[in-house]
Amino acid sequence: MKTRAHTNIALIKYWGKADPNLRLPLMSSLSMTLDAFYTETSIKKIKGRQSEFYLNGQKQGGPAAERVFTYLRKLQTRFNIRGHFLVQSMNHVPTAAGLASSSSAFAALAGAFNQTFALGLNRQQLSRLARLGSGSACRSVFGGFTLWQKGNDDQSSYAYPIEEHPAMDLHLLAIEINKKPKKISSTAGMKAAQTSPFFQPWLSRNDAEIQEMVSAIKEHDFTKLGELAELNANEMHAVNLTARPPFTYFLPATIKGIRLVQELRHRGIECYYTIDAGPNLKILTQLRNIKEIKKIFLLEFNHVNIVNAGFGSGIEYLN
Ligand code: PMV
Repeated sequence: MKTRAHTNIALIKYWGKADPNLRLPLMSSLSMTLDAFYTETSIKKIKGRQSEFYLNGQKQGGPAAERVFTYLRKLQTRFNIRGHFLVQSMNHVPTAAGLASSSSAFAALAGAFNQTFALGLNRQQLSRLARLGSGSACRSVFGGFTLWQKGNDDQSSYAYPIEEHPAMDLHLLAIEINKKPKKISSTAGMKAAQTSPFFQPWLSRNDAEIQEMVSAIKEHDFTKLGELAELNANEMHAVNLTARPPFTYFLPATIKGIRLVQELRHRGIECYYTIDAGPNLKILTQLRNIKEIKKIFLLEFNHVNIVNAGFGSGIEYLN
């Protein structure tokens, strides 16, 4: 038995922790679950040896395995479950996409734990559990558009769907301009960003930005959604650039991509970008523009990988 969860991309970002241990965020966030990228995970109890974690068939050690085991120990304590496990995960997140897989990884892990131990958790409870592994994972429990309400404790901080099967014409093109792993983890970036004089003003806009994004979704207003997602991503990267000391995830190629998106818009090809804790652009656009955008990006960036994603579904239990 396996559990499948898709990754998600935040349109309104989570970029600050109120409680690092419980992964309670400083702000609410809103995301789109993506069909092209997912993780499948199973957990089995094993006897007479330590827990093992396999990713894509390869036994993992070091920090990757440690993070999984630390998370599982947390869940074991919560549910009073003893023993050691064999954890097997397959990541269907093309490394080419430049998308982080922690959202699908920890949502799938939480789901697999629920499934293996027949805990009977509902999706709200599952979202809270996934959050303990990686904040953004709490949104991957649901499909379509998902809102993570920040809440103020473990009980009240969880995600819920805004529209699970949106009829909106919306596509994401993940452009991999750089393959290298990021130098600043999202945890470190979130902490440093709070030293920016613009962090509090940005935070005070969070409720309004969430409300505006929810109405763009309800109205199926692509322009409003794209403009707001791009603004929010720029705000996130602006607080990084104005932190003390300042830092950025941007590379020269990131700026080149941003300018290309602006130029495409001037030419009447409607598209917007969002960028996470890395240098890669994710372009939001509509079906009729995909071909042209791909063509232009392939021309401007040699051999760049581009992956097209639509709406993904929520957590699934497979046999
Ligand atoms: O959940 P984490 O620790 O991988 O942090 C996610 C941070 C961003 O991807 C930049 C924003 C978000 O809301 O997903």
